[in-house]
Amino acid sequence: MKIEKKEKIYEGKAKILYATNDPNYVVQYFKDDATAFNAQKKGTIVNKGIMNNKISAVIFKFLEKNKIPTHFVEKLSDRDMLVRKVSIVPLEVVVRNKVAGSLAKRLGMTEGQALKTPVLEFFYKDDALGDPMISESCALAFEWAKEAELNKIKTWTWKINSLLQKFFDERGVELIDFKLEFGKDAKGKMYLADEISPDGCRLWEKGTGEKLDKDRFRRDLGKVEESYEKVCQLICG
Ligand code: TMP
Repeated sequence: MKIEKKEKIYEGKAKILYATNDPNYVVQYFKDDATAFNAQKKGTIVNKGIMNNKISAVIFKFLEKNKIPTHFVEKLSDRDMLVRKVSIVPLEVVVRNKVAGSLAKRLGMTEGQALKTPVLEFFYKDDALGDPMISESCALAFEWAKEAELNKIKTWTWKINSLLQKFFDERGVELIDFKLEFGKDAKGKMYLADEISPDGCRLWEKGTGEKLDKDRFRRDLGKVEESYEKVCQLICG
């Protein structure tokens, strides 16, 4: 069956979801809109949508090849990606390989400080609350995920971190931290979902330590588009 893009079903801060003629699949459209600090700061990163679609497609394919089930099906055009229809588990799963961002702030640590072992954190996906950090037991208590689901999410997340650390390292980039989202299809099968791009990862150029991710927008560091382009070039060739 040839997939046809139908009506808009959801619009988020960086992406729009469209229904298709197949109830099991949706089209994920990547926008240029950029937000930070729970949408208090708004802007545009020119061609971000095109670059994030490209980068995410390459990374999802790489993870699939390494036995991580993802919602990715195929890249349809510059900004459209065909994905499995999933309901998103309302958790943002963050992995940190070095101290940065909210961890540095929360603990009064210096950005770039090494960690003895990587850190995994859960945040509850709720814009009105500003995505608060939560514990695993909290996720279970409110039934945001079942124990077996949480175990799967953790196992996959650690494996994704190992895979992506090596993937980026081989391309001249240090993976400082990143955020993942997971979703379940109609049968309850779990997939890695959302996107993997400089919007949701901290990526520092090896050697120089130059920031190549959304922190350039969040912190008004300049060269925002150039940095996304550099990542795109390094990852997609
Ligand atoms: P944090 O240090 O601000 O908690 O961010 C950790 C990682 O998660 C970082 O790579 C950026 C990503 N992230 C998102 O993708 N969405 C968000 O809303 C936030 C706050 C962080």
